[in-house]
Amino acid sequence: MSLHTVKHEYKINKNRRELLHGHKSYLLLFTGLSGSGKSTLANLVEIDLHEMGLSTYILDGDNIRNGINKDLNFDPEDRSENIRRIAEISNLMLNAGVITLAAFISPYLKDREYIKQIVGKDNFIEIFVNTSLEECERRDVKGLYKKARTGEIKNMTGISSTYEIPIDPDLEIITDDKTINENVKSIIKFLKTKLK
Ligand code: ADX
Repeated sequence: MSLHTVKHEYKINKNRRELLHGHKSYLLLFTGLSGSGKSTLANLVEIDLHEMGLSTYILDGDNIRNGINKDLNFDPEDRSENIRRIAEISNLMLNAGVITLAAFISPYLKDREYIKQIVGKDNFIEIFVNTSLEECERRDVKGLYKKARTGEIKNMTGISSTYEIPIDPDLEIITDDKTINENVKSIIKFLKTKLK
């Protein structure tokens, strides 16, 4: 808690930045298991938005955990702290008028609710990347599931740590039986209704 601080209101505010950019800013939270395809989807969606002339930025679990969040591990407390910081960083990005794509497992309902509350529900789009554990484990792009099964990695989401399924996501992307291009198209189609 920071005492004795006074919030400054600056003349160039979120509204003015959104006007300059020509669009509203949103937070797109891609949530799902490790290896579900969150980063791949965020990457391709960002390319399309960028080519449409929109201002974008990606916050990605693996990258952020190598920098500002490198002090955090994967126990429940640190995962919540990870998402709390992402909520605050995302809020700054939205204030900067930038469409922000955040790809984090974000396994707990209460933490996703927290992000929504911090950035404001009208600015928040939850995208559940619903890939089955079987499929993520079959892909095992980073070899983490194999290590989790042998006990080399503790607290692995889906194996030894919980993933709480989103109750009412704005979009659910089932990757098992759809091509990546089909999935990117449905996300862009949904976003266009928001961006107008
Ligand atoms: S979160 O649960 O706190 O939201 P975050 O998205 O930042 O996780 O980081 C997930 C990434 O960390 C995974 O994609 C994976 O590469 C790596 N990772 C390393 N250890 C674990 C683990 N125990 N559980 C899940 N992901 C892990």
